[in-house]
Amino acid sequence: MNLFDPARDDVGALAALHKDSFSPCWDGPAISSLLAGPGVFVHHLPGIGFVMTRVAADEAEILTIAVTPAARAQGHGRALLAAASQEAHARGGARLFLEVATANQAALALYRGFERAGMRKAYYAGDNGHDAWLMQVQLPLPPGRNIP
Ligand SMILES: CC(C)(COP(=O)(O)OP(=O)(O)OC[C@H]1O[C@@H](n2cnc3c(N)ncnc32)[C@H](O)[C@@H]1OP(=O)(O)O)[C@@H](O)C(=O)NCCC(=O)NCCS
Repeated sequence: MNLFDPARDDVGALAALHKDSFSPCWDGPAISSLLAGPGVFVHHLPGIGFVMTRVAADEAEILTIAVTPAARAQGHGRALLAAASQEAHARGGARLFLEVATANQAALALYRGFERAGMRKAYYAGDNGHDAWLMQVQLPLPPGRNIP
């Protein structure tokens, strides 16, 4: 899986994938702005999904991950998470954090084995004010599907 190159690759493709998965979603300029930030990188499976990650010192964060509805439940989300985690560790990340809506069963399955590090009340303003878990896991992730 290749890293997305903003100078070569089409940010519009990421925006289209984000729109498939989130409301409100991020448009091209919003994604470009995030990508220009320090320590931010994207793994992209064209037409399928992408994951955006940020590493600052020894802390990594998944900023977003999305798989288009028609391609879900085929292992792409897990492959994206594995690639992001591997790159984050290579860049010095020792722990990986993310927020996930407490009602998001698919994402909670993807993050099985992560520890709950806190609760963010009404975190998703555009999503009926859903609460989010702050989750964390040590890097590197163990190989395979299951985090002990
Ligand atoms: C969350 C998301 C990225 C998962 O992508 P995916 O390609 O379907 O994930 P995978 O096929 O790799 O499945 C990952 C795990 O979740 C499980 N899973 C997938 N969909 C599920 C569902 N609807 N309910 C319960 N478990 C589910 C799979 O069985 C798999 O577990 P396993 O590896 O132990 O068998 C995708 O559902 C998505 O884009 N959702 C909308 C955006 C979103 O919520 N992003 C996460 C924000 S934190």
